[in-house]
Amino acid sequence: MTDKDGFGPITRNRRRATITSAKSETVKLRNGATAAASDLKSGPKARESLSKNLQINEDSKQKCDRYDKMSCHKLQESMLSSASSFKNYRGILNWCVVMLVLSNARLFLENLLRYGILVDPIQVVSLFLKDPYSWPAACLVIVSNVFILVALYTERKLAMGSFSEKVGLLIYIFNLTIILCFPMAVVLKLPSITPVGGAFSLGVYTILFLKLYSYKDVNRWCRERTQAKARSLSRSLSCPSSPSASSTMQSHVSYPGNLSLRDMYFFVCAPTLCYELNFPRSESIRMGFLLRRLFEMLLLTQLLVGLTQQWIVPVIRSSMKPLQEMDYSRMTERLLRLAVPNHLIWLIFFYWFFHSSMNFVAELLRFGDREFYRDWWNSETITYFWQNWNIPVHKWCLRHFYKPLLRRGAGKLLSQSAVFFASAFFHEYLVSVPLRMFRLWAFMGMMAQLPLAWFVARFLRGNYGNAAVWLSLIIGQPIAVLMYVHDYYVTHCQDDPAIAEDL
Ligand SMILES: CC(C)(COP(=O)(O)OP(=O)(O)OC[C@H]1O[C@@H](n2cnc3c(N)ncnc32)[C@H](O)[C@@H]1OP(=O)(O)O)[C@@H](O)C(=O)NCCC(=O)NCCS
Repeated sequence: MTDKDGFGPITRNRRRATITSAKSETVKLRNGATAAASDLKSGPKARESLSKNLQINEDSKQKCDRYDKMSCHKLQESMLSSASSFKNYRGILNWCVVMLVLSNARLFLENLLRYGILVDPIQVVSLFLKDPYSWPAACLVIVSNVFILVALYTERKLAMGSFSEKVGLLIYIFNLTIILCFPMAVVLKLPSITPVGGAFSLGVYTILFLKLYSYKDVNRWCRERTQAKARSLSRSLSCPSSPSASSTMQSHVSYPGNLSLRDMYFFVCAPTLCYELNFPRSESIRMGFLLRRLFEMLLLTQLLVGLTQQWIVPVIRSSMKPLQEMDYSRMTERLLRLAVPNHLIWLIFFYWFFHSSMNFVAELLRFGDREFYRDWWNSETITYFWQNWNIPVHKWCLRHFYKPLLRRGAGKLLSQSAVFFASAFFHEYLVSVPLRMFRLWAFMGMMAQLPLAWFVARFLRGNYGNAAVWLSLIIGQPIAVLMYVHDYYVTHCQDDPAIAEDL
């Protein structure tokens, strides 16, 4: 920008000078020509001088052309200047990747030299089981079938008219409340359940809660539609059903034909939280695709475990002392040290869960809708990130919570706040209960998304907005992780001599 101002006038002066000299040549030529024309009348001497003049003009014209060819400057901006239209930064992107690989290789070596090999696949089993003869998390998952059957039974009774809508709603409220409270009570009261086992079973129950809520809503909408159709039919009995509709109905399940065990368990296993009577289905199972996803799942699970054991655990252990002593500069250093492996693991987890695992299950069930995520990595606003990173949850939020609230007359901000409040509740539920401590860090992290979304949308645009989204992910998560780990250590492990020795 400054270089434009600096070099503009010089070029302009040079240009003006060139134009003036060219003009003067023309003037000379004209003057010469007129003079020669007047001299033409005065014999051979005059003719000679005319040809001489023309020769001089030709020479100067050639000189001018040669000068133009020799000129190597033109009006232009430097490539890195924002005023230049240059956009191809592929080489710089490659440089970033090379630098990233090199700096991480250094970190990897440093980690190996300092701690040795910490990866231990057998230790992973102990994260799920304290006692190999007691599998409380697996038992909890098996018990969840009771709630599925209660929901199906209620729906059948509602469809037959044996239960009124009010009774059905009461049973659902009871069933859904127990789905959240029962595993929570078990995890809090049963000492044999590990934090990881607890988080897994609570995750399964939370998914089930969201699925059965959707099941309830969709079946109610079907009953409402059937009743509305029946009313309109009774008003005009002569109205024939269209042939095209009846032919399409043959291949489609219609209410209450969907209330079967098979349909219910298909929905429970399908990689979606939103129930539909007729899901889009793929033609067949592609074995190659299925095996590729399975291979990715196995490989990435090993990688996730290895990175956590080798990289995250030592950093977290070394962060305890600065956290306890409230040494802010060392706390910041440990936070930044944790940010890189934490973010890498989060990215791998994203691919493992939303691409490999969900596609694997979908392929196995021939479930056709594979939009489990969209391009959240291009988010220029926090809102865009939440709309695109977890599509199953976002779709559920929109269909069963956000839009019903809007339809009931709630404002957009209130509805958004309600969705984020519910999401914050579930995040806290999934972290606090397995760790057996209530600290609200996850809750606050989720609620903080609202003011952050406002700030980014208001003050940052384009690449700056995208950088803000990345920064909130890279720095925000390790802050919450450190808070929980610190509090967990203080409440559970402070007296453990093995960990105290490590500090
Ligand atoms: C809160 C949330 C649902 C808002 O979503 P959004 O896409 O920003 O919402 P918008 O206001 O843009 O509107 C979305 C839809 O509602 C519709 N809508 C908007 N105002 C409406 C109104 N007054 N009445 C009816 N519909 C309305 C829009 O037309 C749009 O419909 P479409 O999806 O068919 O295009 C979203 O941010 C979200 O999912 N947040 C939580 C995510 C989360 O917690 N994920 C957890 C992952 S671990």
